[in-house]
Amino acid sequence: MKRHVDEGGVWKPTLNASPLFDRSDFFERMEATGHPALLQWSGRLREICDQRLVSNNDALFESWKAVLDRLPAVGRGSLDAHGEVIRVVGQCQSSDPTGALRADLLQLNPWRIGPYHLCGVDVDTEWRSNLKWERFASKVYFDDAKVLDVGCNNGYFGFKALAAGADWVMGVEPFLLYTVQHEIFRRYLADPAAIGVMPIKAAEIPADLRIFDVALSMGVLYHRKNPIGHLETLHGALRKRGQLILETMAIESDSADVIVPKNKFAKMRGIWFMPTVGMLKRWLKRIGFEEIEVVDVSVTDASEQRKTPFMPFESLSDFLDPNDAAKTIEGYPTPVRVVISAVRGR
Ligand SMILES: C[S@@+](CC[C@H](N)C(=O)[O-])C[C@H]1O[C@@H](n2cnc3c(N)ncnc32)[C@H](O)[C@@H]1O
Repeated sequence: MKRHVDEGGVWKPTLNASPLFDRSDFFERMEATGHPALLQWSGRLREICDQRLVSNNDALFESWKAVLDRLPAVGRGSLDAHGEVIRVVGQCQSSDPTGALRADLLQLNPWRIGPYHLCGVDVDTEWRSNLKWERFASKVYFDDAKVLDVGCNNGYFGFKALAAGADWVMGVEPFLLYTVQHEIFRRYLADPAAIGVMPIKAAEIPADLRIFDVALSMGVLYHRKNPIGHLETLHGALRKRGQLILETMAIESDSADVIVPKNKFAKMRGIWFMPTVGMLKRWLKRIGFEEIEVVDVSVTDASEQRKTPFMPFESLSDFLDPNDAAKTIEGYPTPVRVVISAVRGR
């Protein structure tokens, strides 16, 4: 693998460093659009990937590399993302008779979103994300779309978007472990250059790109200290008439209100604002979104989110009041999950 540095705009390989994985093919795809804002951003992203995906002698980093190197040699075009489980089909040279592949994948826990299947191993993730996908997919026109998935985790929804006809997908995910999980499956796509998960935070997306046809922000807003800034970033990334799918936790009410938890909310740190559905709609409208439509409201249950061998930590049932499921463990109202579709109007 090559590493590049920017020297007066020229990208040159350097010695003594090997990236965890190479994103060049994706950047070439971005640059081929000829869009000036994308050209400029891809230069910066190459630099960031170079810094963040390069070996830093961290033992964990080396163990991730080793897992990637040991993956089954199944050819390109073997990833099937049409069904509920994203699976590598085709002939696996072995279907894990020794359990070594399962052990490798388990080592990369927690696996939050999925499910996946790879050569005899069911990666049973915390979330059955196919249920979330089914709540909004029919509302989105993915054909030939350029898709941005902010907080994409291991990119499950990006793979689904490609299978639904998207042209290319950029994921934004600051936690490297999840980008490694993504890379495990990306290599089996017929066209791996069509998707790239960037190791960046949402706040690093440049303002007012006006490029993407579809932006997904799912399971992210309630973690943001500045939720309105997050929605503005998404608005800016979309082209005129581009569509946002916003999925988040909210309090089920049409009145415009917001809870600012004293400390934790459903045992989660870093929850700053828990808005009502009415407040979410008001934020979106003020930012300049139109055609704001609540697509789905649901209560998550343990058939959708639970502890599994691939995610052995606390999960949903540990976060609610054991005597009253209408309350979180701290006594706040139990939130619903809402999916809202909105269109960039100007
Ligand atoms: C609850 S998960 C949601 C994953 C997926 N989008 C879904 O809906 O199932 C939130 C994701 O956002 C990522 N994340 C955390 N901070 C972020 C930030 N500042 N910008 C973008 N993503 C972030 C987390 O690492 C995690 O993968």
